[in-house]
Amino acid sequence: MEREALNADKLVELDRKYYWHHLTQHKVFETQEPTIIVEGKGCMVKDVRGREFLDGVSGGVWCVNVGYGEDSIAEAVFEQLKKLPYYAGSAGNPPMLHLAEKLISLLPKLDKVYISNSGSEANEKAFKLSRQYSRLKYPSQDRYKIIFRERDYHGTTFAALSSTGQPERKMGYEPLVPGFLGIAPAYCYRCSFGKSYPGCNMECARDLETKINQEGADTVAAVILEPITAGGGIIVPPDGYFEVIQEICQKYDVLLIIDEVVCGFGRTGKMFGHEHFNVDPDMLTMAKGLASAYMPISATVIKQKIFDQFLADPSDTLHYFRDISTFGGSAAACAGANANIKVIEQRNLCENSAAMGDYLMGRLKELESFSMVGDIRGKGLFVGVELVEDKKTKAPVSEKVMGQILGNCTAQGVLLGKMNRSVPGLNNVLQMAPALIITKEEIDRIVDAIKNSLEKIK
Ligand SMILES: Cc1ncc(COP(=O)(O)O)c(C=O)c1O
Repeated sequence: MEREALNADKLVELDRKYYWHHLTQHKVFETQEPTIIVEGKGCMVKDVRGREFLDGVSGGVWCVNVGYGEDSIAEAVFEQLKKLPYYAGSAGNPPMLHLAEKLISLLPKLDKVYISNSGSEANEKAFKLSRQYSRLKYPSQDRYKIIFRERDYHGTTFAALSSTGQPERKMGYEPLVPGFLGIAPAYCYRCSFGKSYPGCNMECARDLETKINQEGADTVAAVILEPITAGGGIIVPPDGYFEVIQEICQKYDVLLIIDEVVCGFGRTGKMFGHEHFNVDPDMLTMAKGLASAYMPISATVIKQKIFDQFLADPSDTLHYFRDISTFGGSAAACAGANANIKVIEQRNLCENSAAMGDYLMGRLKELESFSMVGDIRGKGLFVGVELVEDKKTKAPVSEKVMGQILGNCTAQGVLLGKMNRSVPGLNNVLQMAPALIITKEEIDRIVDAIKNSLEKIK
């Protein structure tokens, strides 16, 4: 024990001295200790001081979909590392080819798989593919613009950030990449058009057509959307939304990219989030749950028509996708993804996500009587609670209150998330995305912790 304590002090010292935490104001570490997580099992994690927490956010950013301590994934990665850790993605390798085959069997309307190693990178590939595809297909036009939806998040690299509808993420990093344009969010609780579903003519989806016409269809390559807006507040588009989007994309021959980085791999109660909606994307991007973060890996999955546009006589030296990702060639990461998908399928984790998601939603509805609870929404094990000062005016609670609620939950041993540096004044959604193996008892612990925290604040 003493040794462990000494080790903990040393780790805290190393953390303070050398490590720059993601998305963190380090001034806070003058008065509080940095979080250092040392191990996990199931839905539980333990910190450096030996405190155990129920992880309601699957590794903080909704990615350890199968939970911690899955030996079969670790073993698959280990075996592959011994055989062949890596070879550049300009060559195939067995786990990569099996992964590609598996992904296409899960997504039969798509045809080709391009591997990289983060969600941002998968989206960068989608943007580069869209621009090059459109220029190859329409050589007399200049179709390069990418349309995104306000509130969506698509990553941290410059183009991915440029396609993100969260102003607080962008501030200070401008100028961003030209040619990225926002449309209205699909956010019924705070409709940009002051309307109510279903009598709204789906104005938010039709905003895509307005934008395409404003810019000129001959300048637009693609639109990118999350199936359910994740970091921007867990916002589920209304039924019929994607049908209108699809129709507009087809009308103007604009590619539809769906970002499944968060929603993929069971998070929403189906293998992919877009399966809840009637939509047939041209490209799909995925990362987090693909290997449940046991290994870093992402993929951009593409329709044949896009692939075919890049085929040409090899003497035409620029007519192919001139892109590479060094770690996109990780055979070990592909082995991890294959083993992870096996776990999701064999344990029926999509079904568990749907069933436990219903249970979570049902229990959260008990909190509706709190004056602060404005809206509860989500699908599967991906649920948000929007907190307001006043249900009528929908004035958001302050970030201070959000911090207090989260802090109270942490003190009760439950880790939850909140909107973070998104839309000014509207970082007011509590977020839950536990591992897909979660039980009813563990969900009860989460809801009880929130209830307790709301009681303390009111
Ligand atoms: C919807 C979505 N797309 C893309 C990304 C970027 O993924 P990464 O952090 O792996 O680059 C994220 C990250 O949270 C995300 O939520």
